[in-house]
Amino acid sequence: MNYRKFGQTGWNVSEIGFGAWAIGADWGNVSENDAMAALNTAIDKGVNFIDTADVYGDGRSERLVAQLIKSRSEKIYVATKAGRRLDPHTSDGYNRQNLTSFIERSLKNLAVDTIDLLQLHCPPTQVYYNPEVFQILDDLVQAGKIQYYGVSVEKVEEAIKAIEFPGVQSVQIIFNIFRTRPAELFFDLAKKRKVAVLARVPLASGLLTGKMSSESKFTDDDHRNYNRKGQSFDVGETFSGIDFDTGLIAVEEIKTLLPKGMTMAQFALRWTLMFDAVTLAIPGAKNSKQAAENAGASDLPPISSDTMDQLDFIYKRLIKEKVHQRW
Ligand SMILES: NC(=O)c1ccc[n+]([C@@H]2O[C@H](COP(=O)([O-])OP(=O)(O)OC[C@H]3O[C@@H](n4cnc5c(N)ncnc54)[C@H](OP(=O)(O)O)[C@@H]3O)[C@@H](O)[C@H]2O)c1
Repeated sequence: MNYRKFGQTGWNVSEIGFGAWAIGADWGNVSENDAMAALNTAIDKGVNFIDTADVYGDGRSERLVAQLIKSRSEKIYVATKAGRRLDPHTSDGYNRQNLTSFIERSLKNLAVDTIDLLQLHCPPTQVYYNPEVFQILDDLVQAGKIQYYGVSVEKVEEAIKAIEFPGVQSVQIIFNIFRTRPAELFFDLAKKRKVAVLARVPLASGLLTGKMSSESKFTDDDHRNYNRKGQSFDVGETFSGIDFDTGLIAVEEIKTLLPKGMTMAQFALRWTLMFDAVTLAIPGAKNSKQAAENAGASDLPPISSDTMDQLDFIYKRLIKEKVHQRW
């Protein structure tokens, strides 16, 4: 496992982290045994960064992560998120009282005195125009409730606005072979500002692993079933916002470029690591096998520039028009 500097925090984090949404909920049933095995395998393979949120399984994911960090001696950085408990999810809900109570709840779930990294959880765009929110976060740092804070965003424009606030240490954004726009302008700005970048949904919700087909079925409690059209949250979070059939066609072409010695999941993850602005990718994993395979992507050789160009060509030909200007 290779490690990269996490913005200005002084942390060295594994370039493959662990996305802990699926072990919380919304991806079909994941048993506690499988979830703990996935987490432990990731740590065994050198992963030292976990991304979770207070709403993943209404705290289940945070509590599983708490079990893990209690049982392991390695330093594990845990990033959680706040904001999505708001109902309705409006910008004026991002106030001192609510943020403080969300953070107190996460501290309890994670069983820690200080949260390593607290991320605003894809707040409405208006939040980035309200400096008071960032003042509240600065105060929570001062109070020792959180060590650092960052943001998770839907749109490139939100990322660019968010890093104007000097306290923002990290930006989490969807970045994968089907979602390349962050690399155009934002990555240079993030590098200049020395902000950490977390590439989320790096497998396009599993589509880029190459295991899916038009026959693939997803259970009722899996967002790849119930959020196909964005019925519950931003459609960009499900298969990266690309319609399933188009995604399948593009994946078949990507398969023809797969370098020897890696799996499709590893190819997709290695692709995100080709960009030096990316601090780490945070693939989700539901079992030990997936966690091991994903962590293994770090040790693979870089993708050739010729293959990178061909992937870009597939994106431009099949995907770009459908997603590029939406996020
Ligand atoms: N708003 C936000 O801030 C936000 C939104 C989305 C995600 N995130 C974060 O980003 C993380 C990653 O995104 P994601 O989990 O949505 O999507 P992802 O990482 O693109 O896909 C994860 C899913 O792909 C499948 N998979 C993973 N590794 C595999 C492998 N090696 N082989 C075959 N299948 C594999 C698993 O589902 P199956 O086995 O069921 O196919 C897994 O749940 C999340 O866990 C979460 O921490 C944050």
